[in-house]
Amino acid sequence: MLIDAYARRFTYLRLSITESCNFRCSYCLPDGPDCSSRKDELTLPEIKRLVKAFALLGTRKVRITGGEPSLRKDLTDIIAACKATDGIEQVALTTNGYRLQRDLSNWQQAGLDAINVSVDSLDAATFHLVTGENRLPAILDGIDQAIAAGISNVKLNTVLLRQHNAMQLADFLEFVRHKAVSLRFIELMRTNDNQAYYQQQHLSGAGIQQQLLQQGWQLQQKGRSAGPALEYAHPDFQGQIGLIMPYSKDFCADCNRLRVSSRGQLFLCLFTEQQQGLRSLLQQDDPEPLMHYLQRAVLGKAESHDLHQGNSGSTRHLAMIGG
Ligand code: GTP
Ligand code: 5AD
Ligand code: SF4
Repeated sequence: MLIDAYARRFTYLRLSITESCNFRCSYCLPDGPDCSSRKDELTLPEIKRLVKAFALLGTRKVRITGGEPSLRKDLTDIIAACKATDGIEQVALTTNGYRLQRDLSNWQQAGLDAINVSVDSLDAATFHLVTGENRLPAILDGIDQAIAAGISNVKLNTVLLRQHNAMQLADFLEFVRHKAVSLRFIELMRTNDNQAYYQQQHLSGAGIQQQLLQQGWQLQQKGRSAGPALEYAHPDFQGQIGLIMPYSKDFCADCNRLRVSSRGQLFLCLFTEQQQGLRSLLQQDDPEPLMHYLQRAVLGKAESHDLHQGNSGSTRHLAMIGG
């Protein structure tokens, strides 16, 4: 088991498989070209050994993240390898949706259970402005395909931006009226690379929360393995609205996740200063040394991130670590 000094159990691994991305979201990687090196990425055999060791320690869910994970040609093999690991019950993917239309059926055949897609606006011009890409219709079509294909857990991520989408709540609500998805507003998090943007665009989720409550949306009880989102439902709407508010009190109290970057660095928190290289432990088939290392490492996890103190930690941008 992976248990920390605050009795939190970690059954969820967020595994980034690349830092590269083909989008240029203004809050994340606004300034191309992306100079991150792809040659240091974990290989498929390293990923298999890593996931095996985590699974032996009680990990039940793997979320594959990036950068944009679908830029890796072996993504389908990575999904299949995670799914084939004894103990892993759920394999999920976080993507910008660029390859959804083309590759969803392959991913599903490989065992993909759940998918989160970034959609920062439902207005094509705003989407283009924020992401640098003019692809909203294709991405929405891919989301429809995922719903039709029976992926039971389709979530949309919308980073809440004061000047771009905060006034578009009505559009987002209308979108989930007839679609069985969860659309989550994420408070913009401050990273090293987005400080000025953060000052300009950060908005607390409290305003949206208030509007939802006024319009009859009800907070849902959190399940045991629930993620960071507060979920709201309404009898007239098929979908749900979520709020991810990392600046709120106690956000980290029930943290259930650990992160490994595409270069094989263990991050105990999204905003930690410490990164711990696992690569040398991934060169042998025996999982024991890595398991021992992880069990000790997790004891060093801090009780909470320190975003509240105005810090951004060592995180340059979330593509580096997988969000
Ligand atoms: P599931 O619970 O697996 O659906 O994951 P999720 O909703 O956390 O996943 P996703 O990859 O879609 O991330 C959504 C947003 O939540 C991203 O902006 C993440 O950075 C943020 N997030 C996820 N986990 C944490 C966390 O532990 N701390 C903070 N501060 N943000 C998180
Ligand atoms: N703050 C909040 N969310 C962010 N994401 C990327 N960078 C940030 C940030 N600074 C979101 C993306 C994606 C998810 C994995 O993380 O929009 O949906
Ligand atoms: Fe790429 Fe995701 Fe960062 Fe956007 S948020 S630039 S899609 S890694």
